[in-house]
Amino acid sequence: MKPLIAGNWKMNGLSSSVQEVEKLVGLLSGSAPDDRDILICPPATLIGLFATEFGDEGLAIGGQDCHAMPSGAHTGDISAEMLADAGAAFVIVGHSERRADHGESDALVRAKAQAAQRAGLTPIICVGETQAQRKAGREKEIVGAQLEGSIPAGEGDYVVAYEPVWAIGTGLTPTAKDIADMHSFIRSKIREGVRILYGGSVKPSNAKEILAIAHVHGALVGGASLKAEDFAAIIQAAQ
Ligand code: PGA
Repeated sequence: MKPLIAGNWKMNGLSSSVQEVEKLVGLLSGSAPDDRDILICPPATLIGLFATEFGDEGLAIGGQDCHAMPSGAHTGDISAEMLADAGAAFVIVGHSERRADHGESDALVRAKAQAAQRAGLTPIICVGETQAQRKAGREKEIVGAQLEGSIPAGEGDYVVAYEPVWAIGTGLTPTAKDIADMHSFIRSKIREGVRILYGGSVKPSNAKEILAIAHVHGALVGGASLKAEDFAAIIQAAQ
């Protein structure tokens, strides 16, 4: 399966950040390698600009969230159709920060994933357990329930991102064995051909090892995707 290396910029980036992406393109020798998919999910304010600037350089652009409805009286929200119109090809849904900060349920995440597919975007559906849940040995029960509740029915395209909440932005990562174990569990729960990304403190120093684990088809990278050198090194670590 073609690896997907996705950068989640979260609430970071201004129009001047174009320079950082130009630097990334330069580090990738002018265009992204075509044996792997490279995605940047900047804040919504930059999607149109990045899609215009970098669409021809082999970089895909994505959103970080979308509303479930195509349009309507939802002040401050952005629909999947609007992201597609701005040039996005993917959208992250159900990130643990949105599940926590905005109380997003599995049912809402599924509705957003369906909205993404309706608009022609590929949703990246995030799942992952908290530290307390892992300590209690409940990680598969939690992730299994999130998958069951968040993945849309039907044949539409999607990607799953396994992101243990305790590994996000902390510098902590599960052992290779624990990642392998969870990814093979996820594999057994979803249909063939769907990519499963690992996310949570992926850095240049651990990317090669993580990306070589069975059933890991790429990475969702937060902090390290903001720096061109780091993101380029992670992209280059993908086989
Ligand atoms: P991190 O974030 O790489 O900074 O841990 C990953 C994510 O939240 O998607």
